[in-house]
Amino acid sequence: MEKAALEQEVRQIADSWKGKDGNLIMVLHQIQNRYGYVPRNVSLVLSEILNVPLARIYEVITFYHFFRLTPPGKHTVSVCMGTACYLKGGPELLGELEHLLCVKPGESTKDGQFYLEVVRCLGCCGLAPVVKIGDKVYGGVKKKDISGIIAHYSKEAEAKAAA
Ligand code: FES
Repeated sequence: MEKAALEQEVRQIADSWKGKDGNLIMVLHQIQNRYGYVPRNVSLVLSEILNVPLARIYEVITFYHFFRLTPPGKHTVSVCMGTACYLKGGPELLGELEHLLCVKPGESTKDGQFYLEVVRCLGCCGLAPVVKIGDKVYGGVKKKDISGIIAHYSKEAEAKAAA
């Protein structure tokens, strides 16, 4: 998107929250809803429009885990670290996913297929430990299951690419 159009779009979002409490956070929420993450060029434009230092914008983005600095992957992989899942092996599942996907929570894989995140209780603690990919919930997951689950989504992407 060229800068003038981007500025206009960001200005519209910023204007809708002008003068309201916590407006920077609300603007960032809206920007993330619009773009899927908070792109750097948008932050630069926002800094100019709101007259807020870029460093302050990044302070807010990095403080709240909700905000993303990179585009989300096609499949969001959510690892539950709520108490039940944590105690039943959530950290081990997270470690395996980090290893297989070569990303840390809050990052997307280089091919843009997967975005890894940590969540706090998905509301199905009886199935702990739980991993969710997109809308599908996997319960009672073991470390050895992870590669098969991920392979299913990778194969799906390969089949679509070949079609
Ligand atoms: S703690 Fe994981 S679903 Fe509740």
